[in-house]
Amino acid sequence: MTKIRIAIQKSGRLNEESLQILKDCGISIDNGKDQLKASSRNFPMEVFYLRNGDIPQYLRDGVVDIAIIGENVLIEKGEDISIAEKLGFSKCKVSLAVPKSVKYNSVKDFEGKRIATSYPNTVLNYLKDKGVKADLHIINGSVEIAPNIGLADAICDIVSSGSTLFKNNLKEVEVMLTSEAVLAVSPKITAERKELLEKLQFRIQSVLRARG
Ligand code: PRP
Ligand code: MG
Repeated sequence: MTKIRIAIQKSGRLNEESLQILKDCGISIDNGKDQLKASSRNFPMEVFYLRNGDIPQYLRDGVVDIAIIGENVLIEKGEDISIAEKLGFSKCKVSLAVPKSVKYNSVKDFEGKRIATSYPNTVLNYLKDKGVKADLHIINGSVEIAPNIGLADAICDIVSSGSTLFKNNLKEVEVMLTSEAVLAVSPKITAERKELLEKLQFRIQSVLRARG
């Protein structure tokens, strides 16, 4: 029997709510969180637990058919990948921030500055649009520490509650984009699996309506 292959975040902010929405759709996943793959008992679905940043490439290659992923990750790494549904959870911003003590006037202040980020394409596109050139330092986590250790003048990262910025004495000065979890689709999905996707989408839409 053909199954639809879905990628969800292995660990982190999206993991729990991704499993919850599948559950609310009546899809039970046999607990396979320690394994990287699990199956559903009552829906033709296989779940792959993957690292966020790897998911766009898996979709592109058609190794998975669909994924629950942050829109911000697609904007950074998967502009070619289409979105079937916005899922309404894991809302966040991707923002530029500077030390609280810095007087900030406008985006032009970033000219020639060192910015630490895990979202280089997003920052570059944003600044290019404003005619600003900066020097990027790409790091994969704990980005907000960079100004405190003298690695950068500013950072660009996800802002959700704002508490990471606050704890590191930073202030948000530019919101580059807002994001939420989305259902993304591989450009290589087969017609047969597309039918399964439609069934899933039908259930997701009624769950989202009920959530209001
Ligand atoms: C994420 C993100 C921000 C923070 C934003 O980091 O990179 O640092 O959460 O959330 P907040 O506004 O609610 O504080 P995470 O904790 O996932 O760790 P990492 O960056 O080291 O991967
Ligand atoms: Mg972080």
